[in-house]
Amino acid sequence: MTTTRPTDGDIVACDNLVRIYSVADVEVVALQGLDLRIKPGEMVAIVGASGSGKSTLLNILGGLDVPTAGRAVVDGLDLARLSRGERTRYRRRTVGMIWQQTSRNLLPHLDAISNVELPMILDGRSNRQQRAEDLLELVGLHDRARHRPRELSGGEQQRVAIAVALANAPSVLLADEPTGELDSATSADVFELLRRINREVGTTIVAVTHDPLVADHVTRTVAIRDGRTSTETVRRTERSDAGDHRVIAEEFAVLDRAGRLQLPRAHIEKLALADRVRLRLEDDHVGVWPGGSTPPPSPPARPDQGDADGSQP
Ligand SMILES: Nc1ncnc2c1ncn2[C@@H]1O[C@H](COP(=O)(O)OP(=O)(O)OP(=O)(O)O)[C@@H](O)[C@H]1O
Ligand SMILES: [Mg+2]
Repeated sequence: MTTTRPTDGDIVACDNLVRIYSVADVEVVALQGLDLRIKPGEMVAIVGASGSGKSTLLNILGGLDVPTAGRAVVDGLDLARLSRGERTRYRRRTVGMIWQQTSRNLLPHLDAISNVELPMILDGRSNRQQRAEDLLELVGLHDRARHRPRELSGGEQQRVAIAVALANAPSVLLADEPTGELDSATSADVFELLRRINREVGTTIVAVTHDPLVADHVTRTVAIRDGRTSTETVRRTERSDAGDHRVIAEEFAVLDRAGRLQLPRAHIEKLALADRVRLRLEDDHVGVWPGGSTPPPSPPARPDQGDADGSQP
């Protein structure tokens, strides 16, 4: 299998990923130069408006689709260069997938334990029954092993789906709105389970979600806008002087390798930025002004200077 540029120890490395769909001679650019790096053991939430390219990204990372251009490397494997056989093995061993539609995750005529054993059978593993039982235990459903999907609740089906996705001990778990069909309480339980698996098993998890509460509980939230990563929110826990822990969330704009940056829509609208803008490099920041305006002359350094929003007189 082929590995190209170093991925700096990242388990997921997407560089300038492009996916163009052609339907009836019309091209849809679903991903337009997306960059994303994920470290082993991270749990990352992907958020973004409908149609922004989240599922397209997950399908590529899951080995179900190939990028039109750019590079996606997962666990050292360049996904555009896999042979058919390598791709099948990749989908069986390296990644596990969970879909929003509970019916897409499980075979309806098999009971829970047989659903969990199936990926291991396909991969020719031994000791399957014991492992399947352990996985059902892990997701809290040992007592539902003989239930078929229609004899399980939606939340239980998604828990079994998580056990199925973990069957061959993948390096990365990919979940596309895994709780989209569940009520909010059940959804919180399923996400708590994913967090526990991330912590205890150490599996890297990438989960697409619309749920802002979920996004609040992961270490990093990546926002996709128009097929590109636009902002990242990084959370860390800090101890206050009083001794209690609080979560600090900081939002960053993402600067890609080509130096491109997406300005937040609110900034664009507030300053009516369009087509061309003026940029000016200051000592410690870059100023952006509407193209039609004249930036103020570069002032001598002032102690209170530091805003990049062009609001100086
Ligand atoms: N198989 C396909 N053929 C053609 N166009 C597609 C295909 N799949 C997705 N698209 C288009 O690509 C864009 C991104 O779609 P994608 O499914 O990745 O969005 P999404 O962010 O997952 O949205 P949602 O939140 O609604 O699930 C959309 O404009 C969509 O219409
Ligand atoms: Mg989607």
